Amino acid sequence: MCGIVGYIGDKDCADVLVDSLEKLEYRGYDSAGIAVIEKGIIKVEKCKGRLANLKDKMVLEGKPCGGCGIGHTRWATHGEPSDINSHPHGNKRVTIVHNGIIENYRQIKEFLISEGYSFVSETDTETVAKLMDYYYTGDPIETITKVVAEVKGSYALGILFRDFPDRIYAVRKDSPLIVGVGENENFLASDVPAIMKYTRDYILLEQNEIAVVKREGVKVYNTHRELLNKEVYTADWDVDAAEKGGFEHFMLKEIHEQPTAVSTTIMPRISDNMPDFTVEGFDAKKLAAYKHIFIVACGTAMHAGMVGKYVIEKLARMPVVVDIASEFRYRDPLIAENDLMIVISQSGETADTKAALELAKSRGADTLAIVNVKGSSIAREADMVVYTHAGPEISVASTKAYMVQVAIMYLIAFEVAYGRGQITKEECERLTREMAHMPEVIEEAMCLKEQCQYAASKLLNADSLLYIGRGLDYALSMEGSLKLKEISYIHSESYAAGELKHGTISLITENMPVIAVVTQKGLEEKTISNIKEVKARGAMVVLIAAKNIELEDGVADIVIRLPEGDELLTPMVAAVPLQLLAYYTSVLKGNDVDKPRNLAKSVTVE
Ligand code: F6R
Repeated sequence: MCGIVGYIGDKDCADVLVDSLEKLEYRGYDSAGIAVIEKGIIKVEKCKGRLANLKDKMVLEGKPCGGCGIGHTRWATHGEPSDINSHPHGNKRVTIVHNGIIENYRQIKEFLISEGYSFVSETDTETVAKLMDYYYTGDPIETITKVVAEVKGSYALGILFRDFPDRIYAVRKDSPLIVGVGENENFLASDVPAIMKYTRDYILLEQNEIAVVKREGVKVYNTHRELLNKEVYTADWDVDAAEKGGFEHFMLKEIHEQPTAVSTTIMPRISDNMPDFTVEGFDAKKLAAYKHIFIVACGTAMHAGMVGKYVIEKLARMPVVVDIASEFRYRDPLIAENDLMIVISQSGETADTKAALELAKSRGADTLAIVNVKGSSIAREADMVVYTHAGPEISVASTKAYMVQVAIMYLIAFEVAYGRGQITKEECERLTREMAHMPEVIEEAMCLKEQCQYAASKLLNADSLLYIGRGLDYALSMEGSLKLKEISYIHSESYAAGELKHGTISLITENMPVIAVVTQKGLEEKTISNIKEVKARGAMVVLIAAKNIELEDGVADIVIRLPEGDELLTPMVAAVPLQLLAYYTSVLKGNDVDKPRNLAKSVTVE
């Protein structure tokens, strides 16, 4: 949800800002803009649309020259995507870029209008910029302190004061912000990949800390103006991880990175063929002692939680509630002490997931976060953290982050089941060994590319699709359906196969293809009956089936056979063709695969 950057140093500031914004476009791409201090004047260039538009504009009209500036890539919340609503906002004296939502901006705006201010945009951000000007005393820290005391909501702000052309100010609350630390140059960014080309060292800003970023160094203060001693972190990601590396799209690259991502995520959590989360602060005994387990997340991460529910309930015989974070936080959930809340989040910044976590904590539950981004808000707030090691995920449609979340859910399920005495040590060891073997099986699934490409070519003209499955396959088909709709823009739904007859089957015609997933023995006959029912009503069926499932000839129009793996773990393998199917459908439709319309990667507003 919007990306912000800042730079001060000897390089051409506009170039660095644009370069850094390119790495943050996954956070929104409704408009882009920069502000650079040129000979003591704050110069702004901004326009609607992708960063490429801004680049073209600056080629035609010239770019601002200077060594100190801020930049923004927008995911529109208040005010449509337009030149005028693009950031930066402000006036000649104070100019800002903002990521977040100011909840009381209307009241502030009314007040400022009564004080003689006028507004050009519909954004909440412009009110903050003008409030900053209103409170300006010649002392930026005092000014920022007054402003943050008044605004409600979430914000990460990069601020330029004309009177202080040798520095950038920054402050955040509930939206992420880091300060990149270089040699004689320093940076500001919403996320680490933006600065990786220049430095790996960074400082994480905490709630309402104010950073003063100068060429020669960075100082961070609290709102009482006390200088803080901040830890400098070093990113351990490979610089190339944020580049496409020869693949046409980040999504395809990230699908291919899954075997490695799973391996680097699970191997540190396996010792002597058993799951081992002692470093993360829990073990089988601790997990088994909880009364209830809640899994809460959004979107794809919630779908990983659904797989977790099925596996934990199946193996550990313990009820698990999976909830969408935006529902959980407002439905007064029955969570209490002695319960465990597992939150799953790639970014670690999703506003609803974070609020759900806070709610669970306030009710006395223990919280465990499965997070990909180190030092993110959710990781810092949870009692226990399992970091997934997917590396940076740039494509808006999540693939490798989902896969590693699912892998961790399986290991946790083995651990709970063993702790509750529902599986023997031998069975737990066997399952864990099978999991250790999964990266190879997932790798084998990459060879399904051509079949998926062919199947995708048959889906292109559909107006709507159905995904069906039972049990774990149903959990998985939820993710398959989301992936397809978010990047191909074809409407799709996932249905528990047994539910079709209760209404949905009336939608089936020859224009509604059905994607069926069958990996679980014992349920295969039931789902195959459902496949026959939809086929009899004209649907074109693509069937993704495990190798050991017996199929009659002609049961489906296209059959994609999965490589052999343990049955319980096969949904991880089946995720690959589902991702590829979505990917190729989007490519064949000519869509922007990595940046689907209306979406942003990190949803830091509710
Ligand atoms: C879809 C997708 C989203 C995210 C969701 C939660 O491909 O990526 O549905 O899973 O927005 O994001 P995180 O995991 O960052 O909390």
